[in-house]
Amino acid sequence: MRSLLEVGQLDDEDLQELVAEGVRYRTALDGGEAVSRTLVGRTVANIFFEASTRTQLSFDLAAQRLGANVLNFNEVTSSTSKGESLRDTVETVAAMGADVIVIRHKDDGAPGRAAEWSGRHVVNAGEGTVAHPTQALLDTVTLVRHFGDVAGIRVGMVGDVAHSRVAASLWRTLTRFDVDLVQIAPARFQLDEDGLETSADFDATIGSLDVVYLLRVQVERGATIDSAYIDRYQLNRARFEALSPTSVVMHPGPVNRDVEIESSLLDEKRSLVLEQVANGVPTRMAVLEWVVNR
Ligand code: NCD
Repeated sequence: MRSLLEVGQLDDEDLQELVAEGVRYRTALDGGEAVSRTLVGRTVANIFFEASTRTQLSFDLAAQRLGANVLNFNEVTSSTSKGESLRDTVETVAAMGADVIVIRHKDDGAPGRAAEWSGRHVVNAGEGTVAHPTQALLDTVTLVRHFGDVAGIRVGMVGDVAHSRVAASLWRTLTRFDVDLVQIAPARFQLDEDGLETSADFDATIGSLDVVYLLRVQVERGATIDSAYIDRYQLNRARFEALSPTSVVMHPGPVNRDVEIESSLLDEKRSLVLEQVANGVPTRMAVLEWVVNR
């Protein structure tokens, strides 16, 4: 039973194929082409135990575009509030006939356990601080669509890298495409990974970047924001002017305006934030199709 739990499980061929399929589905959706409804008769259950806007909505739409039935579970209105366990929730949606369980959970290992308990295809939609593989795939799709060949481009991940599952998955993915990555963060927000270039000085590194990839401070995971942090790490207008004119700005969302980025910069043409969102649906179509049908 195939699942997508982390990017590291993918061999080069599968990784390349998922990105290429994401790009193809995006082109098809943009062109209004009919997409073959390869998941007709299948059921996709989205079970999200943490808040989500983009990820849950895009999995929902991706499943619908492929013809699947979709169940959406929301922790707040579910029986979790009556004390039901993760295992019972997973077994409940499996008993209803869900073929694919898309799960987001604060605990490391939850998606893997869901796969074991349910015996169904499981897709990791955000796991604690450790992995968010579909975000990394859609970001790769976004970079490939923008740059064509991404080998050698320089990406700076700026902000709370240490607590970010997005950064963890992105780093493991982009290095496979020979992207040059640097984390830019104060010591308390740095990820401890051998081989990951690190700088605490945004102003000194900014001019070398092709992509500024901003990250939200994960306050729900104990991280804190102070004015010194905002002074040193916010992408403000002055820093934007210091970027190379061909560089772009990315952010997985949700954005905290005027914390990691000066609000008006989101309206710049060089902000790819809504492109990332747009690529979420086709990339997740590629993933759902891959887990079920390949
Ligand atoms: C991220 C997440 O949930 O990890 N959001 C997303 O899926 N686009 C990033 C975040 O919450 O900061």
